[in-house]
Amino acid sequence: MASFRFPSPVSARQAAAPVRLPPGYCNGAGWVPRIGDIFPDLDARTTQGPIRFHDWAEGRWTVLFSQPGAFTPVCSTELAGLAEIAADLDRRGVQVIGLAPDTVADLTAWCVDVSVMFGNPVRFPMISDPDGAIARACGMTHPKESPDLPIRKTLILDPALRVRMVFEYPLRVGRGTDEILRVLDALQERDRLDVAIPGDWQPGDPVLVPVGLSDDEADIRFGAGGWRALRRYLRVLAPAIGDRVGGTVALRQPCTH
Ligand code: BEZ
Repeated sequence: MASFRFPSPVSARQAAAPVRLPPGYCNGAGWVPRIGDIFPDLDARTTQGPIRFHDWAEGRWTVLFSQPGAFTPVCSTELAGLAEIAADLDRRGVQVIGLAPDTVADLTAWCVDVSVMFGNPVRFPMISDPDGAIARACGMTHPKESPDLPIRKTLILDPALRVRMVFEYPLRVGRGTDEILRVLDALQERDRLDVAIPGDWQPGDPVLVPVGLSDDEADIRFGAGGWRALRRYLRVLAPAIGDRVGGTVALRQPCTH
């Protein structure tokens, strides 16, 4: 059973709740994480011991995912998929944590079994949420999918604990790890260069001048000739962009688009 701390003052109803939701998140309908929210803090038991979530997550990119249950078919393949991309996540400085409505003992046994079955060790912690309190408080349930089980939700949090991406999958459709990695790359590239990322972008592809930047501002930020307008509304930067120097970004190779 997880235990929680609340900022004061709190109502009796809040004090009985499992997760420390900021007051603005408590609108009576239950909080559902949205892009831009700081993910609330919580204390939980995991397969790797107790954690206080903010202490655990702050300072690194985090993939937080919920699942409906241990020892079930789709969930097992998802766990194996995330274990398989451990090196890809490490390379990106990303840590993973799951949540399921099972005991620590069951989650631990299941992780071992999945590791053996698929040949990739499940090294990330799983939060034990047997009464579903954390999943409900963190908007990881969906009444149309299940009255009590968490759905397949994936959140990407940045090092400042801000929700940057929300994926939601129904109970009978498993997640794809390719899209998780692609979005992590896209978010990190967006932050690194302060650009916009096109649809279906893959690392190395061109990126875009963001909406709201005038052509003059684009010249200052990316260098005159560092971008080209395919239309007034579609301005493309070169595939490989150098690091910021003195507040500008230098292109390493000319834009070919
Ligand atoms: C599954 O992993 O296949 C599953 C688990 C719980 C409910 C529905 C599906």
